[in-house]
Amino acid sequence: MSSFFVLPGQYEDLARDEIVAISKSYDPKTKFKAEPRLVILNTKTSWKKIAAKATFVRNCGDIVGTFDDVSKINPQIPKPKSFVCRTINLSKKKLSPSLLERQAGEVLKKRWGSKVSLSNPNLTIYLIITDSKQYIGCADSKIEPKMPTKVIKHPHELDLKLSRCIVNLSQLKEGNTLLDPFCGTGTILLQAESMKIKAIGIDYDGIMCNITRKNLQANKFSSKVINSTYHEMQNIRNKIDGIVTDLPYGISSKSSISPKKLIQDFVSTIPKRKKLVLVYKKGLDIPELEKAKKYEIYRHKSLTRVIAVR
Ligand SMILES: C[S@@+](CC[C@H](N)C(=O)[O-])C[C@H]1O[C@@H](n2cnc3c(N)ncnc32)[C@H](O)[C@@H]1O
Repeated sequence: MSSFFVLPGQYEDLARDEIVAISKSYDPKTKFKAEPRLVILNTKTSWKKIAAKATFVRNCGDIVGTFDDVSKINPQIPKPKSFVCRTINLSKKKLSPSLLERQAGEVLKKRWGSKVSLSNPNLTIYLIITDSKQYIGCADSKIEPKMPTKVIKHPHELDLKLSRCIVNLSQLKEGNTLLDPFCGTGTILLQAESMKIKAIGIDYDGIMCNITRKNLQANKFSSKVINSTYHEMQNIRNKIDGIVTDLPYGISSKSSISPKKLIQDFVSTIPKRKKLVLVYKKGLDIPELEKAKKYEIYRHKSLTRVIAVR
C-alpha cells in the first residue's frame, strides 16, 4: 500500500526522515520515494498511524492512482457518499487549481454518482502534481498529532515540535523506554510519553527536575525523573532502548566542565547498540559522531543546533 505525505518547505529533510523513521519503527521493510516536498511510502503502516505522530506533515493519505489527463481520472477506490477534489501543486508548472478540481470533480461525479461537498466531504481526492508525476491521493479524515502541554517554560528549553521530531527520529515506539539524561524542563519526556513511549529523565539540577515533574503532572504523565548527573545512565542501561537528548550549550554555573568535554565523555559512556539522537550546539562536533546522520537548525546568529542520529 502506498501513502503520501506533503512536507513544509522548511526543515524538509528532517520532516521526510521523521516520516520514514516512524514507518520503519513499525515496518522495517518500508520503502520510500522522495520528491521535492513529498514522500511516497510503501509500507504496511497506515498513513493515519504515521500522521498521528509526525510533526511537520501538511496533508497525507493513500495513493490511489496516477493520471496524465484529468478527463480520464479513475482512482481505484469504492465510491464515497460525498467528495471534494483538492490540488496540491508541488511542481514548477503554472496551472489553475480550481479548474483542475472542477474538471476532476465532474468526471468523478459522473463515474460515482456521488455528491460534491465542499464543506463536509466523506472523502478528499488530492490531485498531487510534481515535476515528474501526477498522483491521485485520498483521505477520509485529517489526522493531527496531539501535543502535550507545558505549564512551566525555560529560556533553554527545546521547542515542543523539534522535541517530537527527534523522538520520532530515534524509531522508538509504544512500549519502548527512552532516556533523556539532560532533561531540563522535560520537553522530550513529554513528547515521548504523549506517544506512549516510556521515558526516564535525568538532570543534575534539582530545580529543573522539579519543573519537569510539574510539566509531567500537568499532562497526567508518570515518567521517572532522577536528580543526578548523566553518569546515572550506567545504573539503568539495561532498562532503556534509546537515548534522545539535548546537551548543554554552555558552561553551566553548576559544573566547570566545558560543553565539548561533556559531550565527549557522555558519548564515550553511551551503551552500544542503543538508538541515539543528540542535539548540540554547532561547533561541538566530536569524531565519535562522524558517521551520524546530521541536520542543522539555525536559531539565531549565535546558535545553530545540530541533530545527530546514530
Ligand atoms: C540544554 S538543557 C536541556 C533542555 C531540555 N531539552 C528542555 O527542553 O528543557 C541541558 C540540561 O542539562 C543539565 N545538565 C548539565 N550538566 C549536566 C550533567 N553533568 N548531568 C546531568 N544534567 C546536566 C542542565 O541542568 C540542563 O537542564
